[in-house]
Amino acid sequence: AEREEALKERVRQLLDRENAVLVAHYYTDPVVQALAEETGGFIADSLEMARFGSRHPASTLVVAGVRFMGETSKILSPEKRVLMPTLEAECSLDLGCPVDEFSAFCDQHPDRVVVVYANTSAAVKARADWVVTSSCALDIVEHLMDQDKRIIWGPDKYLGSYIQKQTGADMLLWNGSCIVHEEFKAKGIVDLKRVYPNAAVLVHPESPDAVVEVADVVGSTSQLLKASQELPNDTFIVATDRGIFYKMQQASPDKSFIEAPTAGESATCKSCAHCPWMAMNTLEALVQCLENPGEINTVEVDDSLRVRSLEPLQKMLDFTA
Ligand code: 13P
Ligand code: SF4
Repeated sequence: AEREEALKERVRQLLDRENAVLVAHYYTDPVVQALAEETGGFIADSLEMARFGSRHPASTLVVAGVRFMGETSKILSPEKRVLMPTLEAECSLDLGCPVDEFSAFCDQHPDRVVVVYANTSAAVKARADWVVTSSCALDIVEHLMDQDKRIIWGPDKYLGSYIQKQTGADMLLWNGSCIVHEEFKAKGIVDLKRVYPNAAVLVHPESPDAVVEVADVVGSTSQLLKASQELPNDTFIVATDRGIFYKMQQASPDKSFIEAPTAGESATCKSCAHCPWMAMNTLEALVQCLENPGEINTVEVDDSLRVRSLEPLQKMLDFTA
């Protein structure tokens, strides 16, 4: 505890010294989220993280999240220094969507609008017509349907399938998934609901179709957080990364939040609903990235890639403004 306090104090000093602001995703460690909060930074979903960073006057953005979030910040704010505790914080959706293969897939269907999830590399974004996050994907696809567009969707097949069912859009789906959300099990949730009959089930749409089907509310992290505050239930079964519990509990101290069961649950892994890459954002790594930033910390996006990926990103920000 003493060591944790010392590390936190060091981060505070360094943020100040470097004229930096800390932006953390809801899936990061509660200690990191609390630090962002108390130092005038921000805790948010991937859409609002991007917007906050581009509007904040600090000359350095410290992005506690995964690499695509740092890249997005850099694309939107090229004049700022963008640091991350480690650029090795990946995302299975990004890793599962290499630009060459995705681009070839798009080339086979030139008549379709290319819509990609924010959880992708700058190169994949540069190949897209639209970028979306889970907060705005439904609205943007509906907007495209109003224009009679047919869609190529990448990389999350579960989010894509959810949106397809909701909107009836004509979508070709890339075969990607999130290693955290794909582990949730509908049967486990139904069993748990028998124990807590008054619980509402909150599900992130990166989860498999069967899990989405047993949900009371389906939405992005910020939408689930809002639902946890607004619904009258006193108990919630939550199918998303457990990092979100920090904000849910803070907003509703009298309510109970229970992790949705995952397939991987066993004696050695009691709580699997946590992204291993988000977990790389430790206090030690935060201190290191501010104290002595190296290649592993500094986000760079090649200029031509930046210009091309900015276009579909900016469309998303304008659409959701
Ligand atoms: P949102 O915060 O946009 O809901 O995204 C979830 C996610 O998986 C980010 O890694
Ligand atoms: Fe990617 Fe899933 Fe981790 Fe989010 S939780 S960063 S989607 S692997």
